[in-house]
Amino acid sequence: MSQTGPDLYQKARRCIPGGTQLLTKRPEMHLPDYWPSYYSRAKGVEVWDLDDKKYIDMSYNAVGASILGVKDPDVDAAVHAAIDAGSVSTLNCPEEVELAELLCELHPWAQMVRYARCGGEAMAIAVRIARAYTRRDRVAFCGYHGWHDWYLAANLGETDALDGHLLAGLKPAGVPRSLRGTAFPFHYNHLEELRTIGQQHGAEIAAVIMEPIRGTPPQPGFLEGAKELAHRMGAVFIFDEVSAGFRLCCGGAHLTFGVEPDMAVFAKAMSNGYPMAAVIGRSDVMNAAQSTFISSTSWSERIGPVAALATIRKHRKLHVHEHLIRIGTMVQEGWKRAAAEAGLQIEVDGIPPMSHFHVKEDNTTMTKTFFTQEMLERGFLAGGAFYATFAHSEQHVKAYLQACREVFPSLASALQSGTLSSLLKGPSAHAGFQRLT
Ligand SMILES: Cc1ncc(COP(=O)(O)O)c(C=O)c1O
Repeated sequence: MSQTGPDLYQKARRCIPGGTQLLTKRPEMHLPDYWPSYYSRAKGVEVWDLDDKKYIDMSYNAVGASILGVKDPDVDAAVHAAIDAGSVSTLNCPEEVELAELLCELHPWAQMVRYARCGGEAMAIAVRIARAYTRRDRVAFCGYHGWHDWYLAANLGETDALDGHLLAGLKPAGVPRSLRGTAFPFHYNHLEELRTIGQQHGAEIAAVIMEPIRGTPPQPGFLEGAKELAHRMGAVFIFDEVSAGFRLCCGGAHLTFGVEPDMAVFAKAMSNGYPMAAVIGRSDVMNAAQSTFISSTSWSERIGPVAALATIRKHRKLHVHEHLIRIGTMVQEGWKRAAAEAGLQIEVDGIPPMSHFHVKEDNTTMTKTFFTQEMLERGFLAGGAFYATFAHSEQHVKAYLQACREVFPSLASALQSGTLSSLLKGPSAHAGFQRLT
């Protein structure tokens, strides 16, 4: 008999610490013991598990990396051509220059580009460049930016207990304790917190780092105010566009808000799932990369730039963001309607292409677990988040919302009768980390 996903995951936990490479891909984050965990093949928003059971992905869609849908024919044709032409060499691939020109054309405030292959790594490059440019050590930040030391340093507490409290759920063991006091967090839309950091440490801050948008929209003047405070401190203002980028327009979400940073960082959606990341910036700031050492063999391969060029060109030609916004809005409206019909109190947030909902006043993960369990039985990968792709059709959304209309009433009545835990087939999902958003 073939091995099921949950069986393989048990094996994985014995040979891979944590079982997976990404927190969000741990089955415990979704439906412990029952999440399919592994896929055999995928196309568009369809995914087949190890038992060849098909699901429609109405959840994270490669955790935001699949923006056009998996196996997009245009991107994959370009990738196949790059493989046929040789994907690595002692010489450089010309596409990295072409991509730099395209990124700067989309973001006229930027003149130079460096590359990496994933978001957290590209953020670490941006921070290094900002530190090199300002000759300062400290940073102020808001939101999640990856696993690197510069960021987790925020969780090095006052005591020796390496028990994170600022970024709940992220532990900083292994991050040198000497980095304590180098990363100061502030909350989104709370300019006064950044102002306080500026008053206390302004002359030492190398960079102010934040996503232009994540959950709630920026309050009027927030992004402009953050930029102004950063510049008043003499710091580099950096937008992390790893998740928001290419979802509200063809380029950084900041373009829709009219606030230009000094640097911006892209990954995930820019290359439809092929590993690729870019740090773009003003040339005076970016040139500081020459005063330090930032270099890697794998940043010079060809598939990433080729996939990014094909993804961005298709995005631009077909106005992909308009589809993402339309599909995401349908889902948000549908959640609200289905919840109202069922008498379920939910809260919906996020930009439409990266939508979230949760049951109000629910401080457990039981409701999310129940929703995932019931939706899986109906053929959907689903949870509290929906990331739209170009491959989602109205039919997918209609079928999904019909299933929500079946599940929400059961959830509401189980909550009312206090029987929810007895309806779960397995343990409740684990809570993730909390963003400062
Ligand atoms: C805003 C933001 N920055 C950085 C990262 C890290 O990117 P990666 O997982 O590609 O390292 C993420 C990942 O979710 C993100 O959402």
